Amino acid sequence: MEPIKICDNVFWVGAVDYDIRDFHGYLTPKGSTYNAYLVVDEKITLIDTVRHGFEDELLSRISKIVDPAKVDQVISNHAEMDHSGSLPGIMRAIGASKPVYASAMGVKNLHGQFHGESLNLLDVAKEHPASGKFSFKFLDTKMIHWPDSMFTFMPEPGVLFSQDGFGLHFASTERFDDQVPWDLLRGLAVNYFANILTPYTVQIGKILETVKETGILQATRIVCPDHGIVWRKDPAKIVELYAHLVSRKPARKAVVAFDTMWHSTEYMARELTDALGTRDIDVKYLSLKHSHRSEVAAEALEAAAVLIGTPTINNQMFPSLADLLCYLKSLKVKDKIGASFGSHGWSGEGAKLVQAELAGMGWKLPSPEVRVQWVPKEADLQPLKDMAKAVADEIDKI
Ligand SMILES: Cc1cc2nc3c(=O)[nH]c(=O)nc-3n(C[C@H](O)[C@H](O)[C@H](O)COP(=O)(O)O)c2cc1C
Ligand SMILES: [Fe+2]
Ligand SMILES: [Fe+2]
Repeated sequence: MEPIKICDNVFWVGAVDYDIRDFHGYLTPKGSTYNAYLVVDEKITLIDTVRHGFEDELLSRISKIVDPAKVDQVISNHAEMDHSGSLPGIMRAIGASKPVYASAMGVKNLHGQFHGESLNLLDVAKEHPASGKFSFKFLDTKMIHWPDSMFTFMPEPGVLFSQDGFGLHFASTERFDDQVPWDLLRGLAVNYFANILTPYTVQIGKILETVKETGILQATRIVCPDHGIVWRKDPAKIVELYAHLVSRKPARKAVVAFDTMWHSTEYMARELTDALGTRDIDVKYLSLKHSHRSEVAAEALEAAAVLIGTPTINNQMFPSLADLLCYLKSLKVKDKIGASFGSHGWSGEGAKLVQAELAGMGWKLPSPEVRVQWVPKEADLQPLKDMAKAVADEIDKI
């Protein structure tokens, strides 16, 4: 396996995971990459590593540049296992006593993951690594994506190593933004943001301000994240996309997400989709039979409204809806216009329970839940039309 040159003295030496589909509960239909970078200066520095199991790929790429035993030090920007899992194995290859630099929290978290391993972990706030003609600046990016996360910036070549920030899950032979159409990259970046970073929207907004105020952004020529594509042609594009996403400016778009046992709730979902479509709203109809929770989260990110449908099963909402709501809650999806609907046979708790959950999440609910007993008939459709109107009127106000 070959390294890829990013710019003079900096190489991509990561791993491509074509097969991964479940990334801690997030569907990754295009696989992912674990990006690691080698800075060849007076000292040789490895920035981040790869998931456990990909050690050989990383070492194979490094060895085309230099004998791995010649690597002097490692910087660990993020102590999550997709980037740190191979650390013990890599350190055995490059020299177990060599320093591994991380944030204070990174040192703590890596200790917690690899107790028993004799890693020489150093806090960058106390022991600053040297490179040679280049230098390293560290930026605290707590919660992007974990409490240990930091960015490493090299001002001389203008390279920002942004770990999970500005990443996307995309296994490919292409490494750079200029090799892949923007529409595809935008979709993947939005999907990634929705499923990985949404809970930290406020922190991301602050980081964007900090990199601007400190001049780091203006001095950045290349953004090197730990997943997906390196932004070398137009790094401003991904930064602008993040600025847009943290602004939470909703699009004229609605998501109708539902599940069904005997098609009645499905019928209601179709009626709502149709009615919203007549109001010139971009509607995503997502049956949970075919759509993963992470697809719903991705479509919901820029949508103004999310309408959720469930049948009642044994006095509960359908389990896939409980799964979805738990997931959206964990992602702290806020500021949505919401609505709930569903079919039932006798007690009919499902849609009511969904409505209560949405209220608890702080969503704006312009309509009471719409429940239909058994199979919807023509007369049952009017309340759905009214619900669609109430939602569309609310979207019109934005
Ligand atoms: C296993 C099972 C359990 C059910 N439990 C309830 C229930 O507790 N209360 C209720 O109102 N309806 C219950 N129903 C009836 C369904 O909610 C009803 O058939 C509804 O129309 C299904 O909507 P769907 O076609 O969208 O699946 C149950 C149905 C099934 C198959
Ligand atoms: Fe992460
Ligand atoms: Fe990651």
